[in-house]
Amino acid sequence: MFSMVNQVSLNMMSVSIAEAIREAARTLRQAGVPDARREAGSLLQHVIDCDRTFVITHAEDLITLEAQQSLRDCVARRAEGEPLQYITGRQAFFGLDFEVTKSVLIPRPESELLVETALHLVDKGRAAPSICDVGTGSGCIAVALLHENQRVSAVGIDLSIEAIQVARRNALRHCVSARISFVVADCLSALGAGKPVFDLMVSNPPYVAVSALNGLQREVRDHEPRLALSAGIDGLTIIRRLLLDSGVLVKAGGHLLIEIGFDQRAAVERLIDRTTWKFLGIHKDLQGIPRVVALQKTCS
Ligand SMILES: C[S@@+](CC[C@H](N)C(=O)[O-])C[C@H]1O[C@@H](n2cnc3c(N)ncnc32)[C@H](O)[C@@H]1O
Repeated sequence: MFSMVNQVSLNMMSVSIAEAIREAARTLRQAGVPDARREAGSLLQHVIDCDRTFVITHAEDLITLEAQQSLRDCVARRAEGEPLQYITGRQAFFGLDFEVTKSVLIPRPESELLVETALHLVDKGRAAPSICDVGTGSGCIAVALLHENQRVSAVGIDLSIEAIQVARRNALRHCVSARISFVVADCLSALGAGKPVFDLMVSNPPYVAVSALNGLQREVRDHEPRLALSAGIDGLTIIRRLLLDSGVLVKAGGHLLIEIGFDQRAAVERLIDRTTWKFLGIHKDLQGIPRVVALQKTCS
């Protein structure tokens, strides 16, 4: 009898990796989390600090009670709508692993298009291109660019001091710190001298209209920083400022790339001053949505 009790209590306490994932997935599914099993696996990997291969090859290994409790805590947060990336503290972007905190937007796959377009331009352009990333957030765009092209140097700007701290750590993590400086500033206001020093300016600015905030997914609406999402009544406040102020800072023949919202193409095209910028086109993302506006500084 005694040994059975022990056996029962042992069974109650110890669960295998596979069982822990199954239980976590069940809870997430009940909470309406899409892709519950994959997310449960990611949370388990986070808790026991291992990769997917380990989970698959050690499915029958038992996890500690402490790990079980941590997993339950993480699952509860995810079930409440907190994004997986804020719980695990990481997100992959352009093949690199980025630290994310609640102070930064979670890097999105569509912003990889901005990086690809920028890389194409710097490859064709000057020998040691200088880039400015406005609204750098986690630093994902600037850091990916620097990581891909050793000749590039950059300035990353953000209004949020907490975001800049995360961006600095991501630059360190990917060994590009020596080629990037970070500035806490309101858009381009800190670069006031107005000299054309950049070959390329890139930005994934906040572009959600205030009226659209309530309609966002709860993960985004309730957890990602408002400063990273919202940009005035029409969502164009920061884009408008970038189009107006960046002309004096970009060299003749240099470029400006701006990520825009799915419905902003026509409005943004109307904002472009054609005496300062040659409109090169709008690149579509993988969903076919016009996403990256490409402009070239005129030589006049
Ligand atoms: C959409 S997020 C982009 C973050 C990152 N570049 C990315 O692609 O994941 C916009 C960023 O702009 C910053 N931001 C908002 N208003 C700003 C302003 N007036 N000046 C500078 N940065 C600003 C936010 O803090 C946020 O980090």
